[in-house]
Order: sequence, then structure tokens, then C-alpha cells
Amino acid sequence: MNLRLKFTSFVLVLLLIVIFFVSYTIYYTQKKFLTEQIQFNTDTSFKLLLNSCKEALKINKEAQIVEAMVSIYEPAIVYAYFVSENNDVFVSKNNAASVFISRANASSVYKSEKYESLTGENIYEYSSPIMSNDQYIGTFIVGFSQDYIDSRINEGISVIIKKIKRIAIISILLSILGANFVLALFIKPIRLLGKAAKKISEGDMSAKVDVKDSGEIGQLAKAFNGMITKIKETDNFKDEFISSVSHELRTPLSAIDGYCNLLIRAIGKNYSHEQQLKGLNIIKEATARLTKFINSVLDLSKMKTGIIDLKMVPVHIEEVIKETVNLFESLATAQDKHLVYKVQNNLLTVNGNIEKIKKVITNILENAFKFTRVGDTVTVNTMLSPSYGNEYIEVWIADTGIGISKEDVERVFEKFYQVKEGKYKKPKGTGLGLSIAYEIVKLHHGNIWAESEIGKGTVFKFVLPVLKL
Ligand SMILES: Nc1ncnc2c1ncn2[C@@H]1O[C@H](COP(=O)(O)OP(=O)(O)OP(=O)(O)O)[C@@H](O)[C@H]1O
Ligand SMILES: [Mg+2]
Repeated sequence: MNLRLKFTSFVLVLLLIVIFFVSYTIYYTQKKFLTEQIQFNTDTSFKLLLNSCKEALKINKEAQIVEAMVSIYEPAIVYAYFVSENNDVFVSKNNAASVFISRANASSVYKSEKYESLTGENIYEYSSPIMSNDQYIGTFIVGFSQDYIDSRINEGISVIIKKIKRIAIISILLSILGANFVLALFIKPIRLLGKAAKKISEGDMSAKVDVKDSGEIGQLAKAFNGMITKIKETDNFKDEFISSVSHELRTPLSAIDGYCNLLIRAIGKNYSHEQQLKGLNIIKEATARLTKFINSVLDLSKMKTGIIDLKMVPVHIEEVIKETVNLFESLATAQDKHLVYKVQNNLLTVNGNIEKIKKVITNILENAFKFTRVGDTVTVNTMLSPSYGNEYIEVWIADTGIGISKEDVERVFEKFYQVKEGKYKKPKGTGLGLSIAYEIVKLHHGNIWAESEIGKGTVFKFVLPVLKL
């Protein structure tokens, strides 16, 4: 069953339930109202007839009694008569119906009662005593046809039923039209979503849903478009990951394979010690590169999933920085670059893991040397954080290197993200150094970011909370 049919059936069932209850209520109240109205009319007719009868009796003209009673036309009246105290009966209407006269008993109390006549007719009969100078002079009796009264009520009811039927048919038609119109509004964007989802499943990542609605459907479309963007990013990331991983695995593996073959062939031949040592060193370097890469990936995934348990101890950050920076001095000299370290001897301690904090500084310094030119300067500086306040220690590692563009500066912390040199050339490395630094700083409840200008240099800054003793 499609959505249109389901929705229309649902609306119809709802409408039928509402129509049923509303119709029943209208029918019931109208029937009650009509019955009361007709009852009131019958009572009034009897009172009018009774008054006419009394007037005629006052002037003592029996003929007028009959006349007065006949003059009041009421189709519901089956018979009307006056029974005097001497049991004389003056009949008006239905003279011939002697069956009714048989009920002509003088009664001294006011009565109204229903009965079935000998001819099978249902009669509603009123009888009232008439007094003159406190003397009972006779009884006035009128019989109304209950069947006639009922037929009047039924006539009124059938008019109401006809109206209810007409309204129900019009509302059903309108609701079917309305349900279809509303559905058309819903179905259009849902179809667009379905088409876009199909395109994506077929591998077309350019799919987008264009819905101008600002309500739930619009929000769904927005979320869907957001999801497509995320899928695209993940897809790109997957490509980058595969190319990065395969490059990082293939390059050292082929070096190992090549040099192993060479060394195997060299057995028994006259290869010099230097040549063999060179081959073994290359194999060693390639193995170290592979190990570093695999460790980086594992470290990162452990930190990302939170399964790493960092042993935190009070760390004097100045000392850790000093020790790490010292390791880069020989590299700076070898590359003809300057390394400046500004010591602030009064800094406090942080709660952290020494090896991991060293890793953050190492990864940033490695980049600083990788992306600077001969003669450039790398400066390491520590201070109480100007942006986060005295509760944080801030470390700056600034270089005067190639710099990073505005679009890339926030993305360098993403896994495997590397800024291409020129249009296609990837820099050396895996693109994991800064993501590892980012995860470590986050595990220490700190923050890390970069500020950069193309051609002028980059400053990497990170803050760590000061340990309160
Ligand atoms: N100081 C810097 N100057 C200019 N660009 C930088 C600097 N530091 C990082 N980058 C850019 O950020 C990218 C990501 O750095 P990251 O350290 O994560 O990876 P990598 O250095 O390329 O590889 P890895 O560190 O894993 O060996 C670098 O490839 C580079 O494009
Ligand atoms: Mg790096």
C-alpha cells in the first residue's frame, strides 16, 4: 500500500468516525427538540380548545360549543367532545367514530394518557373537568393522533438526515481532495530525497536535495544534504587514507624487498662490506619508517577510541620542552636553520604524560623544520596563556617558513591531511603528526591551534591546564 493510499484511508476513517459521532449527536438532540416542540404544540392546542369550550358554556349555547371546537382546525385531533354532568355528549369532529364515545366518561381530574383505540390507532388523550361557580358541570376530552404526531417528528428527522448525508458526502469529497493536496506537498520532497539517496547508492556523490520548505521536511532535506557532504568527506578521506597508507607501506616495503634480493644475490659474490652495510642500513631505515607509521596509526586509533590509559604525573613543562628542543639542535645546525628557545623559569607544572607531551612538541618541531627554508628561524616560547588566562600554560612554536593558507590552516589537524605543494605533490610524511598532537592535547584537557600566513610562517600554539597543588 503506497503512502497516498495509506494517508487517504487514514483521513477517511478518521472523518467517518467524526461524522458518525457528530451526526448521532445532531440526530439525537434534534429528535428530542422536535418531540418537545410537538408536545408543546399539542398541549397549547388542548388549552385553546378548552378555553373555547368554557366560553361557549358560559353563554349556555351547546351548538356553539360544537362550532367553537370545530373552528379550531388541528389535523392531529382525532376527536373532541364535551360530556355534561348528565352524561350528554356534544361531539365535535369524528362524529361517526362511536368507538371513541365509548370512552366518554365524566372525569373530575385533569388527565393526559396514551392508549390504543379499538381501531388500532395510537391516541394521546387529554381530559379536563370544567367548573362553573365552583360547580362541576362536565368534562372536556380531546384525542390527538399519536401516529400523526410521530409522522410529523419523522418528517422533521428525515429532513435532518438528508442534510447530514449531504454534508457528509461533501466533507468526504473535500477531505479526499485535501488529503491528496497535502500529500502532494509531502510526497514531492520525499521523492526528491529518494532519488538523491538512489544516486548516492549508485556512487554519484554530486546528488543534492533542493527543498525550500522551512518545516520538518526542509530540516530533513538539510540534514540529508549535510549527510551527503559528510559521506563525500568520508569518501575523500577514504581515498586519501588508502593512497597515504599504500604509499607509506609500499615505499619502505619495496626498499626492503629490493635490498634483501640484492643481498641474497650478493652471497658468494665479491660485494664489499660497505655495499652490504649500505643495503642493511636502508632495510633498517625502511623498517623503522614502517614501524613509525604503524605505531602512529595505532596510537591515533587508541586515543580516538579512548582505550589508551595515559599515566598522568605532575610535569614541569619547561624541562620537557627544553629536553625536546635540545634534540633538534643538531638538526637545525645540519639544515642551516636557527632554533631559538625562550626560557621563562617561573612556569608552573601541568598534570600530564611526559612522553606524550614530548610527542606533541616533537611533531610540531619536525614540521617546523620540514616546512622552513635554509636560514629560517624556529622559535619556542612558553607563557601563562594570554587567551585562556592564568589557569593555562601556553606554548608557541613559531617558524618563518612557507606558511599555510587560510583554508588549510584548520584542516591540518585532520588525519592524513597534507597541504599539496604545487597542485599535486604531497609533502613527505603521512599527515598524522598533527592529528596525534591534537588528540594528546585534548586528552590533557587543553587546546591546540595554528596561526599562519603564506610565505611568512606559522605559529602552532597549545594550552594545557596548570596543575593546582
Ligand atoms: N610549520 C608548518 N608550515 C607549513 N605547513 C605545515 C606546517 N606544519 C604542518 N604543515 C602542513 O600540515 C600538514 C599536516 O602536518 P602533519 O604533521 O600532520 O603531517 P606531515 O608532517 O605531513 O606527516 P607526518 O608528521 O605524519 O610525518 C603537513 O603536511 C603540511 O602540509
Ligand atoms: Mg608532521
